[in-house]
Amino acid sequence: MSETSHAEGRTFPPPEQLAAHANAGPEVYDEAAADRLAFWEKAARRLTWTQEWDEVLDWSNPPFAKWFVGGKLNVAYNCVDRHVEDGHGDQVAYFWEGEPADDTRTITYAGLKDEISKAANALLDLGVQAGDRVAIYMPMIPETIIAMLACARIGAVHMVVFGGFSADALASRLDDSGAVLVITSDGGYRRGAPSALKPAVDDAVGRSPGVRNVIVVKRTGQDVDWSEGRDLWWDDVVDRQSTEHEPESFDAEHPLYIMYTSGTTAKPKGILHTTGGYLTQVAYTHWATFDLKPDDDVYWTAADVGWVTGHSYIVYGPLANRATSVMYEGTPETPHRGRWWEIVQKYGVTILYTAPTVIRTFMKWGEDVPKDFDLSSLRVLGSVGEPINPEAWLWYHEHIGGGRCPITDTWWQTETGAHMITPLPGVTSLVPGSAQFPFPGISAKVVDDEGNELSDDSTGLLVLTDPWPAMLRTIWGDDDRYVDTYWSRFGKNVYFAGDGAKKDADGNIWLLGRVDDVMNVSGHRISTTEVESSLVGHPSVAEAAVVGASDPTTGQGIVAFVILRESGTDSGDELVQTLRNHVARDIGPIAKPRQIMVVQELPKTRSGKIMRRLLRDIAENRELGDVTTLTDDSVMNMIKEKLPAAPSED
Ligand code: WTA
Repeated sequence: MSETSHAEGRTFPPPEQLAAHANAGPEVYDEAAADRLAFWEKAARRLTWTQEWDEVLDWSNPPFAKWFVGGKLNVAYNCVDRHVEDGHGDQVAYFWEGEPADDTRTITYAGLKDEISKAANALLDLGVQAGDRVAIYMPMIPETIIAMLACARIGAVHMVVFGGFSADALASRLDDSGAVLVITSDGGYRRGAPSALKPAVDDAVGRSPGVRNVIVVKRTGQDVDWSEGRDLWWDDVVDRQSTEHEPESFDAEHPLYIMYTSGTTAKPKGILHTTGGYLTQVAYTHWATFDLKPDDDVYWTAADVGWVTGHSYIVYGPLANRATSVMYEGTPETPHRGRWWEIVQKYGVTILYTAPTVIRTFMKWGEDVPKDFDLSSLRVLGSVGEPINPEAWLWYHEHIGGGRCPITDTWWQTETGAHMITPLPGVTSLVPGSAQFPFPGISAKVVDDEGNELSDDSTGLLVLTDPWPAMLRTIWGDDDRYVDTYWSRFGKNVYFAGDGAKKDADGNIWLLGRVDDVMNVSGHRISTTEVESSLVGHPSVAEAAVVGASDPTTGQGIVAFVILRESGTDSGDELVQTLRNHVARDIGPIAKPRQIMVVQELPKTRSGKIMRRLLRDIAENRELGDVTTLTDDSVMNMIKEKLPAAPSED
């Protein structure tokens, strides 16, 4: 049975109990439709501001938006202090679970406030000022969150780099952002063993003269190289500080963080998020999309803090809403394949938010694994990162949600900062595989190449037609690229998301994957150009073409075609392994090609453009599409003859 026929026609109405007590009922759509800006203004009032704004939105110079103009607030105060002042200091902010199972920490709001204040004082001691960039390259430990909030508290701009990225990737981000300080740790636990972080920092910082200090959290106790005068132990600089720190208010448009993401060129883009609008939308969406009840729920975003999902829905949204969250350091199969379900059972997790690629992995492991655990505490499930295929949706619904939990399939991006298209669990009748409707106050459309709206199930491009509070404000240091990438295809008032989509007769939006040269591997964005430039950076490679081929578990898998420099060069398995490892070292293990094929030529159009479409056909073992524009169609036969039997594992 095909996936669609499996789910065809089935819709899942909201559970009655949930609908009756939902944070967001049907009225939110009406309110937002009646007055979009008033709706967001009301959402902003859920936060504590020290100065009222003069204007909700200034869009006089598109695409450069200003939200809550003139308003002032402190993000850390909103996430932590105000809850302590309201008498919730003893409430747990995070149940932290290390990968080694006996390694746990419980952090209350009061405890978090003290730690953040101490870290803020330490940063000030080291000369960090508002507006300075601070890099954070950390495992999934509480200090990562403490460091982020300490930056926010003093107005420093954090730039978190996912711990799986290489020294090169870190170095280019330190350079592009102009970071003055790096916060890292000796290492973290992955798959049952300590995995080092400090060596990559030493390498990267060695090339970044702007970095004055490196603060190192002790997590694994591994040996580390030490640069006297530059390197400082977290315990030495933070522990001796006072727990008193008066938060200063910052302008609503003060920069909060930079997060790098892959674009269509080899150079990652530094997405800039600011203060007031961002916090307004992450807090409101977290409250509405997951129906978060701060007194009752135990909330878990099972993702890494190093991605935007972690920023918005492990840190800022949940804390602004006074959630009690779970934070887990390690991998799902350590020490056994039921680890996640053990965590759900242990803490009584009520809301779980994760990615389709992980769900498909669990499907592969089989339903007998979760069956051994009590998952009856769960009441809402979320999905993010890529389209969730109906089969995975139904499995998640049945075997994790026990058939009773709504699934919110949330479409958004690093650039959008917060949920943009998603069902609401107390309102929407769910259609498996579709992210369904724009969030209240968000305007999304599917259009054809000329910008005409499509709503008849035909495939087009997803665009956002009004600015939104958590939108990126620019690409760090490159306003032109910001305008060119997102706001030029259909003019300066229309945001081009880079995703294909269709809208059906019921108004459901179906996301169809990227339309540009960005791949989506296990929910992570990687550009084909980035991997190509890494490959041609290797001395044996003359030319490379990379495509994302569909993959049953990871969504897409990276498949590379390379032409070697000398025809005599060894083209055996060993070289392929070397090249795969070369890319992993260059960019990070997530960019390691699933498969590399050594070829004599690449299919090109007469104008010299590589025809990726054909390479994708090959990589996915399909009949070749139209080859009429190819210079030499024998190239394709040559490539096909060289196809290895099966893609390599690991
Ligand atoms: C894809 C992650 C379909 C999409 C928050 C987008 C999705 C890119 C979904 C952003 C979803 C994310 N359904 N596709 N629910 N969520 N995507 O910046 O292609 O890492 O453009 O942000 O992931 O990835 P990013």
